[in-house]
Amino acid sequence: MKQLKITAKIRICNYEELLSEEKIIVDKAKEATFRAYAPYSKFKVGAAALLANGEIVDGNNQENVAFPSGLCAERTTLFYAHSRYPDEAVQAIAIAAYTEGDFLDRPISPCGACRQVMLETELRSKQPVKIILYGKKEILIVGSIKDLLPLAFDSL
Ligand code: THU
Repeated sequence: MKQLKITAKIRICNYEELLSEEKIIVDKAKEATFRAYAPYSKFKVGAAALLANGEIVDGNNQENVAFPSGLCAERTTLFYAHSRYPDEAVQAIAIAAYTEGDFLDRPISPCGACRQVMLETELRSKQPVKIILYGKKEILIVGSIKDLLPLAFDSL
């Protein structure tokens, strides 16, 4: 029997080590958490995407009393970016989470549905999307969603 070993490249750093353009979207993702609509979970997530034309689009989680009708910050942001700028590649997305009065020490990682949407974002522009997961104590940087979604479904 053969075995397939899957590895992921993930950089771990702190805020000071980020490039200035990375700091800008991390700051925007953090700001966006404060506009989240999360009355049910009280878990506020913000995201900010840097587009190829230099625009930055941000968004946050939008919950609903009928729970499955809500949407995560990542998909709110990417769907808005694609609806507003359909031909612009998303170069990077930063994600931050805030709960109980503070940002988390360790970053959260996107849910499966958001990973699938991030994959489509890469497929439509044929470019990797850098994913920056913000935590107060550590920041994780992934060069492509393919590192977070191995063996993805990507064609019909
Ligand atoms: N959430 C996000 O917006 N992004 C994630 O990566 C994980 C979870 C939201 C969904 C829900 O509104 C709340 O956080 C609690 O799960």
